[in-house]
Amino acid sequence: MDLLFCMPGYEARSWLEAFQRALPEAQCRVWQPNDHAPAHYAAVWKPPAEALRGRAGLKAVFNLGAGVDAILDMVRREPDALAESVPLIRLEDAGMAEQMVEYVMYAALRYMRRFDEYERQRAAGRWAPLKARRPGDFPIAVLGLGQLGSAVAVALANAGFPVSGWSRTAKQLEGVRTFAGDDTISACIQGAKMLVNLLPSTPSTRGLIGKRILGGLADGAYLVNVARGTHVVESDLIDAISRGKLAGAMLDVFGEEPLPANHAFWREPRISITPHVSALTLLDESVEQIAEKIRAMERGETVGGIVDRVRGY
Ligand code: NAP
Ligand code: GLV
Repeated sequence: MDLLFCMPGYEARSWLEAFQRALPEAQCRVWQPNDHAPAHYAAVWKPPAEALRGRAGLKAVFNLGAGVDAILDMVRREPDALAESVPLIRLEDAGMAEQMVEYVMYAALRYMRRFDEYERQRAAGRWAPLKARRPGDFPIAVLGLGQLGSAVAVALANAGFPVSGWSRTAKQLEGVRTFAGDDTISACIQGAKMLVNLLPSTPSTRGLIGKRILGGLADGAYLVNVARGTHVVESDLIDAISRGKLAGAMLDVFGEEPLPANHAFWREPRISITPHVSALTLLDESVEQIAEKIRAMERGETVGGIVDRVRGY
C-alpha cells in the first residue's frame, strides 16, 4: 500500500516518520513535483492540483484539517484534480476540540469578567471597579454544533453560561438550547452577549455574520470567530465596533491570511488577533486517526468524516 503526503510549507520528515510507524505495512512518501506514480491514499493540506490529478489507484484523500474549504475551492477551480468517486475525508476532532474549548473559554472569561475593560483602564491609569458579572448574566450563542462547536457549547454550559447553539440538523446537547435550520438563527443569537462561530465555510455560510446577525446580539456584545474569515462581513464588524454595538472581537481567522499589515483590524484595539492557531492540527492524534481509518477501509468498513462535496463540509 502506498501513502502520499503533501503539506506544502510544513516540515515533512516528522509526519512521514509518524505515518511510517503507524502503518508499517505501507510505503509512505512525500510528494515532489513530477511524482505521478500510483498511490492508494493521500494525506494532504492545501495541496497543489498536480499532487492529486490523475493519480492512479487512489482510494481516499485525507484532509489534514477539519475545514475542507481550501481543497474544495481548488477542486472547483480544477475539477480534474480529484475524481468525484474518490472520498475526501476530513479530520474529526483529533485533539482540536480541546484546543477550541480552551480558546473560547478564555474569551468567555475575559469578556464576562471585563478584563478587556480593566486593561484599558490600566493603560489610562484609572482605578474604577465595574459592576460585577457572573456567567449566568452572559448568554453565549454558538454557530455550528459539529465536532468542535458541540464540545465548546457543552463546556460553556458546564461553566454556568446560558448557551444556545445553531446547526443545520436538529441536535440534543446537555445544557444547551439548540436551534436547527436557516429560519431559527435569529432566535438562537437574539440577545447573546457573545457569539462564537464554528461553522464550516460553505456557499450557505459565507458572509453570514454581517449587519443582521450582529444587530441581533445584545448591545455591547462580543464576536469570537474561530472558524473562517469568509463568514464575517469585515466592514460590518468594524462598523458595529465603531458604533459601540459590539464591545470587541477576538478573531483567529481572516478573509486574507496572513492579515495584511494595512488592514483596519490591526488599528482597532478592541479587536484581539491571533494568527489562525485556535486549534492546530496535532501530528500524533491526526496520524493515529488517519491510520485507523485506512485500516478500517482496507477491511471494507465505512469510516466517518467523509465530506459531502455538494454541501461543502
Ligand atoms: P463539523 O463537525 O462539520 O461541524 C459543522 C457544524 O456546522 C455542524 O453542526 C453543521 O450542522 C453546522 N452547519 C453547517 N452548515 C450549516 C448551515 N448552513 N446552517 C446551520 N448549521 C450549519 O466541523 P468541525 O470539525 O466542528 O469544524 C468546524 C469548522 O471550524 C471547520 O470547518 C473549520 O473551518 C474551522 N476550524 C478552524 C480551526 C482554527 O484553528 N481556526 C481549526 C479547526 C477547524 P449539522 O451538524 O446539522 O451538519
Ligand atoms: C484549521 O483551520 C482546520 O480547518 O483544521
